[in-house]
Amino acid sequence: MTIHQQTPEALLKIENLRKYFYVKLGAFGDKAGVVHALDRISFDIFKGETLSLVGESGCGKSTAGFTILQLHKPTEGKVLYDGADLATLSEKELRAYRRRLQIVFQDPYSTLNPRMTVGDCIAEPVRFHKLAAKKDIPARVDQLLADVGLPARFANRYPHELSGGQRQRVVIARALACEPEFLVCDEAISALDVSIQAQIINLLQDLQEKYGLTYLFIAHDLAVVRHISDRVAVMYLGRFAEIGPKDAVFNAPLHPYTKALLSAVPEPDPVGERTRQRQVLQGDVPSPLNPPSGCHFHTRCPVAMEICRSQVPAWRDVGGGRSVSCHAVPG
Ligand SMILES: Nc1ncnc2c1ncn2[C@@H]1O[C@H](COP(=O)(O)OP(=O)(O)OP(=O)(O)O)[C@@H](O)[C@H]1O
Ligand SMILES: [Mg+2]
Repeated sequence: MTIHQQTPEALLKIENLRKYFYVKLGAFGDKAGVVHALDRISFDIFKGETLSLVGESGCGKSTAGFTILQLHKPTEGKVLYDGADLATLSEKELRAYRRRLQIVFQDPYSTLNPRMTVGDCIAEPVRFHKLAAKKDIPARVDQLLADVGLPARFANRYPHELSGGQRQRVVIARALACEPEFLVCDEAISALDVSIQAQIINLLQDLQEKYGLTYLFIAHDLAVVRHISDRVAVMYLGRFAEIGPKDAVFNAPLHPYTKALLSAVPEPDPVGERTRQRQVLQGDVPSPLNPPSGCHFHTRCPVAMEICRSQVPAWRDVGGGRSVSCHAVPG
């Protein structure tokens, strides 16, 4: 989808979302620690778009997906969806919404029961949510298999009889069986061969168009993110560094962290690739158990100022559909 409308409609509104994990530390587990996995993130997810979340390992991408879907209970903040704040609903009240918000993981084995046939794996959510009459379920399974590019005879196979790409297609069919509106793809293609990745990306794009799906796409591969996204959000240590339309973020990144992260992506054009300036970040990602004061990025930032050590930069709308959190960005 391309966002040309002046004010795209938000499917989900995330406000000041926080997720802390309380963990035991020390050799005897006798010390308590708090992992600041998600630290007040605020953004909208527009209907029909693909919004990608990028950032180094451990920055909180999966936690963001899980907390939005209420698979983790938020520590604080709101997740507004269809007139409700999911964060305040009881498990029973959430049941009415769960079907509409689905997730696809990297590892199909964690989703597919090895003792169930592919057909049963796909039929299970159809039965559970009563989405088809009993007699219509086999036809529904066939249709879902066709939707993900698999022949109907696959219904009788077991997950271990399939290739990685085929298994991921079954996982997608199982998610589609719930007739969702919103899909979190958490590294859904990362474990696949490059050629298979391309097929699954095309499939996800076709399904998005056919069913008007909205995606939150979590991935390490920035070339894939550039290909698939409408907008991109960059995370650093539990916070958003910036968000904006894909071309704006890739062609003119605002945040120094985005600049460093994207400078590692090879240019498709050989001339651009030869002249590309790589910016290597110094030091390790600090621990989310004890994040730096002020701007979390100041310990590695090439343009850090005094204020960055003490004050958390505000999350500011800078126009053009972009928001950023950096003291050094004017406006
Ligand atoms: N259940 C948990 N209990 C304690 N800490 C957790 C838990 N889940 C995640 N964390 C911590 O929260 C932080 C964010 O983790 P998360 O899995 O969201 O990162 P990520 O960006 O998805 O990383 P990756 O790219 O490696 O998948 C990490 O420091 C992680 O160790
Ligand atoms: Mg993750």
